[in-house]
Order: sequence, then C-alpha cells, then structure tokens
Amino acid sequence: MLVLGIETSCDETAAAVVDGDGRVRANLVLSQLDEHRPYGGVVPEIAARSHLETLDGLVAGAMEQAGVGFGDLDGVAATGGPGLIGGVMVGVMTGKAIAFARGLPFLAINHLEGHALTARLTDGCDFPYLLLLVSGGHCQLVAVEGVGRYRLYGTTVDDAVGEAFDKTAKLLGLGYPGGPEVERAAAAATDPDRFALPRPMKGRNNCDFSFSGLKTAVRKTVERLIDPLPPADVADLAAAFQTAVADVLADRCSRAMARFQSAYGPGGTLVVAGGVAANSTVRAVLENAAGAAEFGFAAPPPDLCTDNAVMIAWAGVERLRRGGVDGWEFKPRPRWPLDETAALD
Ligand code: KG4
Ligand code: ZN
Repeated sequence: MLVLGIETSCDETAAAVVDGDGRVRANLVLSQLDEHRPYGGVVPEIAARSHLETLDGLVAGAMEQAGVGFGDLDGVAATGGPGLIGGVMVGVMTGKAIAFARGLPFLAINHLEGHALTARLTDGCDFPYLLLLVSGGHCQLVAVEGVGRYRLYGTTVDDAVGEAFDKTAKLLGLGYPGGPEVERAAAAATDPDRFALPRPMKGRNNCDFSFSGLKTAVRKTVERLIDPLPPADVADLAAAFQTAVADVLADRCSRAMARFQSAYGPGGTLVVAGGVAANSTVRAVLENAAGAAEFGFAAPPPDLCTDNAVMIAWAGVERLRRGGVDGWEFKPRPRWPLDETAALD
C-alpha cells in the first residue's frame, strides 16, 4: 500500500509518501517561517497564498523522492482540518484533484489524528494508549482507543502550551517561533532556580491545563527586571518557564495515567506528540513521570512531532486499511475535535 500525504493546515507546506509497512518513502517540509517572522506570528492570508504557490512543486518533489508515479498510489490523504481554513482548502483541493484524476480513494485527515497516530508508525504502539498532544494550537490529553476512536480526558482552558512558549519568547525578546528559542536560551541558564513561577492547575482533580497565568507571571517578572533584559536573566527566566511547563505537564499526565489505568487496566503507554514534544526537557520529565506510573513512553523523533505530511499519509494508511474513504463532498473544517462527543477543540 502506498499513500501520498499532504499537510497545509498552518505554516508548513508538506508532502510525503508512506507505505503500508510504515516506511517513509518521501518526506518534504517547506517552512514559511521567513514569510511570517516579520509579523511575529502566522498570518493566515500569507500562509494560504504560500501553500498555493508551493504545494504542486512539493508534491512532485515527494513523488520523485519516492521514485513512484501517481499510478502507483493506493490513496491520497490531505489534512481536512482543524487549521487555518485557507491553507486547508488548498491541501484538500489538491488532494481531491489528484485522487479524482487518477481514480484513487481520497482521505480527509484530522490533523490531530495525524499527530495522534504517529507513534504507531515510529514506535509500533498498540491501542489503547494515552496521548498528550502539545502543539501551537492544542493541549490535550486523550485516550486513543483506535483509529477514529478518541476519548478526551482534558484540555487547556486558555492558551495552548506552544502558544505559551511563543508568547514567553516574545516577552523575553527572543525570536519566532518561540519554542526552540526558549529551549536554546534555557540551555544557557546559570541559575535556573532564581525565578519562582506558578504551576497553574497542578494538583487539580481533573486533566485540564491552563497557561495564561504562567505567561502573566513571566511578564510581571520581566517588568521588574532591567530593560533590555541581560542575557543571563533571559536564560534563567527561560529555564524557569520551561521547568514550570514540564512540571505542570507531568502532573496532568500523572492524573491522566491513573484515570487511564482504571479504565483499561494496568500498564499502558504515554505517547507525547505535537511541536512542543520536540522539547528535550519536556520529553525527559514526561518519560520520568511515565516510569513512575509504570507506563511505557513513546515520543516520535522531533521532526515527526512538528507538523509534517508523513503523519497525514500514515493516518491515511490506517484509515484506508479500515475502509475509511471520504467523498468528494468533504468540506474543509476549521474546527474538528478528536473526540466529537466531548464537543471541545
Ligand atoms: O505541532 P506544531 O508544529 O504545529 C501546530 O499544529 O501547532 O507545533 C508548533 C508549536 C509552536 O508553538 C512551537 O513554538 C512549539 O510547537 N515548539 C516547541 C519546540 N519546537 C516547536 N516548543 C518547545 N520546545 C521546542 N523545542
Ligand atoms: Zn500540528
């Protein structure tokens, strides 16, 4: 089985080819970072135009890298949402056009499902497992029972964790996107315990998250310090923020692992996915928390944690195997929760 995947829901244009054994035959990601950087965040209109200009060439490049033609494919999978609607439309229309022209099945993939199923490709995780999805737009704990079967345990009541990294980076005068910049700055900390930051939601008897208070605490700390911030202060504050985030994530995961165990029995695996899962402190702290709960731990390699089309192609493989094809009438969905019964995004 051979599936072409297309991802255009945010600021990465990506195309990939994956086979039924989970072999990545092609993986191309074109970042639009330079186009958005002057604005300090993703500009939807710029993103959509850029996807439109580059996607055809990227798909051709992926097919060439894989050494296959459209006639060799068994299906075409494109992100159908959630995301910035202009970009999702570009990907869905391109995917449908290729599938229609070649008489192939078309699969509209939930971007979150792409992140959720990646660990099956990279680590061979069996269902059910507990997923912590931490990205620029999402922060959720989900029990993954099967393809298309998700149970939402908790979500953020305000900012997504990646958003908190990005905003903190801005407050510290670091570049965009903020996550990798904060991680780099934190690595240079000489006194990581100098600043005490809050742990929102820690100890609460649910699996929800909150990050706006943490961001405010960073802002208030910055306001007390000299302007411009000396590099040592930036490094120590970045480290304090990163530690606070990791601490809160571990606490929320511990709560969720207990809930998961009472639902599915002993054992289990904690899977972490999404852009923030590329952070090595976050990964290490979560691996520890998983160990303490006697859970296995899996985190895809960083380039498959951030947005990519391999995860979309792979979700396509998983869906296609189960006969989950979409019709031409599929409409791009700006909002598309994993657990539709929980009605939260
Ligand atoms: O999954 P992703 O690539 O896109 C979304 O679907 O949102 O996640 C992007 C987010 C951004 O907020 C970025 O700052 C964050 O992931 N991120 C990181 C790191 N790399 C990316 N956050 C912390 N540490 C990192 N190394
Ligand atoms: Zn994502």
